[in-house]
Amino acid sequence: MGTLIAPSLLAADFGNLERDCKMVNASEADWFHIDVMDGVFVPNISFGMPVLKSIASHAEKPLDVHLMIVEPERYIDTFADLGSDILTIHYEASIHLHRTLQSIKEKGMKAGVALNPHTSVELLEPIINEIDLVCLMSVNPGFGGQRFIEATYQKVRKLKTIIENADAATLIEIDGGVTDQNANQLISCGADVLVAGSYVFSSNDPKVTLSGLKNLS
Ligand code: DX5
Ligand code: ZN
Repeated sequence: MGTLIAPSLLAADFGNLERDCKMVNASEADWFHIDVMDGVFVPNISFGMPVLKSIASHAEKPLDVHLMIVEPERYIDTFADLGSDILTIHYEASIHLHRTLQSIKEKGMKAGVALNPHTSVELLEPIINEIDLVCLMSVNPGFGGQRFIEATYQKVRKLKTIIENADAATLIEIDGGVTDQNANQLISCGADVLVAGSYVFSSNDPKVTLSGLKNLS
């Protein structure tokens, strides 16, 4: 399997969401990455259900939903109804993580766990076989356009070893500050999915930029 590319709609032009969704549909990107922020778990608020429904109505590729919210278990049905294919919750926001992952899968979605930069990958070892995707935050969650944290490479390597030792099928996703400057190294460390927001949408031709990321290695 080649590396999957998931452009983050957080960096899209909200006045032209339909246009940007169609660009992603027509591009070599694999998924739509959707960042949901509640202003509590992170200091920023992104978009709510009316906007998400508009995105979902235009998107023709899987919806990779990243919940940066407290008590994510309260919104599992809501995001299943939206048509989410992958629902990722934060380790730091989930007291009963194992139970919440089961609930997500019972709703027919893939279950993801996101880790803040300071959270150790070893914490997921006991339940790695229950996790479809681990999203390693390579910036502090809450905002697009931040600088990539270099310590992420080591976390990717450690997590890859945990996944291989457990014979798990868990995908490793990297989220934050991804560009052509770090993508190759992330892939060689074991990354399976690259999220990119500002690098894609601030470029002159986002479709060409997505193609470049997809065909890096
Ligand atoms: C950050 C979000 C990211 C963000 C990535 O909290 O989870 O998905 O949109 O944006 P860039 O690629 O600009 O760092
Ligand atoms: Zn994200």
